[in-house]
Amino acid sequence: MRPKTIQLLLAGLIPTAQAQSCPDYSSYAQARHEPFSSGKHALSSARPAPACRTFNSTTVESLLTNTSAAIADPDLARLFTNTYPNTLDTAIRWRGRSSTNPDEELAFLITGDIDAMWLRDSANQLQSYLAVLEPDATSPSNSTKPAPENTIASLFRGVINLQARYLVTAPFCNAFQPPPESGLAPAANPAAASDSVFPPYDAAKVFECKYELDSLAAFLQLSADYFEATHDAAFFGRFSWLRAVRAVLDTAGAMTAGTYGPGGEVVGSAYVFTRLTTRATETLVNDGAGSPVRETGMVRSAFRPSDDATTFQFLVPANMMFARYLASASLIVEGLGDKAPQGLAEEMVAFSARIREGVTKYGIVPVVGGNGSVETVYAYEVDGFGSAALMDDANVPSLLAAPVFGYLANTDPVYQRTRRGLLSPEGNPYFMKGSAINGIGGPHVGPGMAWPMASIVRILTSEDDDEIVKVLRELLSSTDGLGLMHESVNSNNPSQWTRQWFSWANGLFGQMILDLHFRKPHILRQSFQ
Ligand SMILES: *[C@@H]1O[C@H](CO)[C@@H](O)[C@H](O)[C@H]1NC(C)=O
Ligand SMILES: *[C@@H]1O[C@H](CO)[C@@H](O)[C@H](O)[C@H]1NC(C)=O
Ligand SMILES: *[C@@H]1O[C@H](CO)[C@@H](O)[C@H](O)[C@H]1NC(C)=O
Ligand SMILES: *[C@@H]1O[C@H](CO)[C@@H](O)[C@H](O)[C@H]1NC(C)=O
Repeated sequence: MRPKTIQLLLAGLIPTAQAQSCPDYSSYAQARHEPFSSGKHALSSARPAPACRTFNSTTVESLLTNTSAAIADPDLARLFTNTYPNTLDTAIRWRGRSSTNPDEELAFLITGDIDAMWLRDSANQLQSYLAVLEPDATSPSNSTKPAPENTIASLFRGVINLQARYLVTAPFCNAFQPPPESGLAPAANPAAASDSVFPPYDAAKVFECKYELDSLAAFLQLSADYFEATHDAAFFGRFSWLRAVRAVLDTAGAMTAGTYGPGGEVVGSAYVFTRLTTRATETLVNDGAGSPVRETGMVRSAFRPSDDATTFQFLVPANMMFARYLASASLIVEGLGDKAPQGLAEEMVAFSARIREGVTKYGIVPVVGGNGSVETVYAYEVDGFGSAALMDDANVPSLLAAPVFGYLANTDPVYQRTRRGLLSPEGNPYFMKGSAINGIGGPHVGPGMAWPMASIVRILTSEDDDEIVKVLRELLSSTDGLGLMHESVNSNNPSQWTRQWFSWANGLFGQMILDLHFRKPHILRQSFQ
């Protein structure tokens, strides 16, 4: 750096100073930084330096301090401090205003090591901060509109507005490019170069176009969360939100159709995707239409929340989540009164009910237990013809997470039976057993690799202290000393893992600690040494 630059930096005249002097977090998260935590895991200090953080929130800092003080174990406290603010610290790539409406806030959130915004990840990344989301004076629907926009509520609005724009533009797609207002260049996606997709999309706006039902559900969830916390219905009537809801309903509606019409004729799928690839899970069978389905009331999904292709297109957990948040989001539409199209809320409620019926009728299947007795469980995927995938994948929405996204209670007997099977090496082909970590994985990284995200969900859905402590202990020793949640970890060798910077998993770990702080504070007062 030349001396002249330093002078300008000191004078605060170079807005790009941060980019110049801050290490790339992909590299930063791969190395250990002092001071290490004082426990046996000696975990790295993984938060970027204050000047390099991408969003500052005094409320989050205060929550971090208060909750850390309630954690007795030094390693666990460090892991929480590193992970909880990770999205704010590292992933808020850009915030600003729409070029067509200066009242419309926009926020571009990256998933971590990839410079694109996923609908699912960005919604989940903000989920972590629900605990500190409150109504604020900076809402554009507030008559008193002061300037500082550094509120969590503003961040939620920015993501909701940008997601709405994405959905109006390309409702079948899952990951998107920065908005032109940001001045950021679109990211290259070599993997998508050979994709043949219908409906076609614009690569300047879309990073990848895998149709995943849970992406649509994520938008509704984020909207419903914001509404529940702020009661700010007016906000939803101001920008593209209603048009996005229309796009969501039309897209999901088109994907309820079966493969064959009444005369046996093949009904073309509203979405078709093929890719030149050596991985079976990166393309769809039947020339991109996916496996045949029979109409069930459920909505088809071409890909899973892992971005892997579904085996059978009625992905049960995604349908559960979509049904749940369609109903919640209908309350926003009601809140809009005559600003919303007539009949829209009723349409959402009815659609939600049809999906629930379909899940109950077709998504619950019999399995033969070890002693020969037959019991019923939720299948991960079905096709309406009787075929079912009995498994779970770590990515949320998973079957394991059904109580977390509020489809059912964790005491539900079918859920309890399903959960027992999913958490056993006999009942789930993607349950990884090992000396380091025992948990659910998936085909995305493959057998042998357990995903911490699923272990976090296991804690969130458990009432059993022994189970929670055991899983928490495994999570604590799963970070290879780096003090961050990884995407997957070798179940027998924690020094082998994938993705050093996976913002969603970090936030989810923090969310789980907040949950324990509220639900089972005695566990946080225990030593894990
Ligand atoms: C966050 O605060 C630090 C000072 O503690 C500052 O240097 C940094 O620029 C702030 N980040 C943002 C995005 O405002
Ligand atoms: C943290 O604790 C202090 C003191 O009890 C309290 O004033 C503050 O509101 C708490 N912060 C959060 C985010 O709960
Ligand atoms: C408007 O701001 C006030 C605080 O100034 C707050 O109490 C109120 O809830 C805000 N309204 C909305 C819709 O966010
Ligand atoms: C068989 O096992 C199931 C649990 O998997 C249990 O509920 C049932 O009572 C057992 N039946 C017999 C006949 O032992």
